[in-house]
Amino acid sequence: MSTDLHSPLDTATAIRTRRSVPFGRLSAEQPEIPEALVWTLLEAAHWAPSHGNTQPWRFGVFTGAGRARLAEVLATSMAAHKGLTDANAEAVAELHAAQQATQAQAPVWIVVAAKTPAITKFPPQEEDWATAAAIQNLLLAARAHGLGSKWMTNAAVMHPATLPALGFEEGCRPIGLVYLAQVDEWPEGRRDPVAGQVMWVRE
Ligand SMILES: Cc1cc2nc3c(=O)[nH]c(=O)nc-3n(C[C@H](O)[C@H](O)[C@H](O)COP(=O)(O)O)c2cc1C
Repeated sequence: MSTDLHSPLDTATAIRTRRSVPFGRLSAEQPEIPEALVWTLLEAAHWAPSHGNTQPWRFGVFTGAGRARLAEVLATSMAAHKGLTDANAEAVAELHAAQQATQAQAPVWIVVAAKTPAITKFPPQEEDWATAAAIQNLLLAARAHGLGSKWMTNAAVMHPATLPALGFEEGCRPIGLVYLAQVDEWPEGRRDPVAGQVMWVRE
């Protein structure tokens, strides 16, 4: 992890080597990520484009003991998603324990949401797209600073109860959950040749 607040990797290399790093490839020892570095990554996200410069992204950052609060909310949402009730106390308790263990695996978790302004000329999905661009900025900046990450959109993150329970303002839609962590081994990644997905009109 580089704590130099200027990006130590060029853009092309950061784009090419950014990977969604699974928990199994994270370092066993997870040093704390300095708050100044997290702010640097949030600033990078904040410089994403948005139609009309609405800056619709909202971030909830969970570190230290705050991760237990995130785990609590995600486990409750997952239980609701699975239709579990008080009658399934054991299954619910297992979900909570598993979620706490998940959050403990990375030192920084960021819930990202898109907020549509009360009055807007633009379709709401444009706010979602802009927020997705902000997430990509954040992932690339993390890679440039030597940090692994993953963007997740599982049922718990996307559940309608999650953002209100975490204290996000009204009118926010979930766009993802990102973790940041020290990496042991970077996955290689795989892409098909881009030409298969390009239509190029020359005349
Ligand atoms: C919108 C979005 C949602 C994703 N959700 C998940 C997820 O819930 N769980 C997961 O393991 N990976 C998730 N990913 C990561 C993708 O699986 C990953 O980007 C893809 O396999 C390509 O690998 P790479 O990111 O290493 O290039 C998500 C990625 C995006 C862009």
